[in-house]
Amino acid sequence: MKKRKLLLVGSTGVIGAGLKAAFVSSYELITGGIDHEDIYMDLSSVDSIKSALKEIGTIDALVCTAGQANFRPLASIDAAGIDKSVYSLGLQNKLLGQVNLALAARAYTKTDSVIVLTSGTTNRTPILGGSSLGMVNGALDAWVKAAATELPNGPRINCVSPSLVEGTPMQFVRAFPGFAVVPMHHVVLAYIRCLESGINGETVVV
Ligand SMILES: NC(=O)c1ccc[n+]([C@@H]2O[C@H](COP(=O)([O-])OP(=O)(O)OC[C@H]3O[C@@H](n4cnc5c(N)ncnc54)[C@H](OP(=O)(O)O)[C@@H]3O)[C@@H](O)[C@H]2O)c1
Repeated sequence: MKKRKLLLVGSTGVIGAGLKAAFVSSYELITGGIDHEDIYMDLSSVDSIKSALKEIGTIDALVCTAGQANFRPLASIDAAGIDKSVYSLGLQNKLLGQVNLALAARAYTKTDSVIVLTSGTTNRTPILGGSSLGMVNGALDAWVKAAATELPNGPRINCVSPSLVEGTPMQFVRAFPGFAVVPMHHVVLAYIRCLESGINGETVVV
């Protein structure tokens, strides 16, 4: 049987590398990102997203595990417009980057295609310095649910919201005191549920 074509954005990261290893034999895998990927794609540039998608063509599945946000104590965050705000990176890169990727990818999907974005635990289980991530993660979960309502003819769209993932560098682990580390194979299973179990508009918490 012909393998389904899956575009994985962020495959050089902690989660992306785990997914790449898990999916390489079961999907026709194409990786997208800034460095060491099959196709150059900078999530912060709509032009870059669109030209990478055009080059790849129709896809059966899209998984995004890329997206940055600042860690910063709330006490040090001043009110600022979008360009100067500490929140700008999270809003423009992790939130709008993934949303733009999903919006642009619709033109390259089929009715049975599926899009999976990545949020994270901090909107449900707050951490110190995590207001940016919390805001963006909550928005991603909400956006996926809302978007699915307006995509009755596909693609399906879901989100994975991981807690602290196995293999995350120590400088980030320290920001999550008291959190159990989620084994990578549990994280992979969450993405597989989003891809293959038929769910739509859901956030799978792992
Ligand atoms: N690790 C965790 O415990 C955890 C838990 C919950 C949620 N998350 C979320 O899951 C996502 C991935 O986490 P991670 O730990 O795997 O991150 P990571 O190790 O830092 O990897 C991030 C990936 O995104 C790519 N990337 C960064 N900026 C990009 C851009 N502008 N355009 C395209 N690709 C870009 C990176 O490419 P380069 O290597 O070329 O920079 C890398 O492949 C993040 O949004 C994170 O907030 C992570």
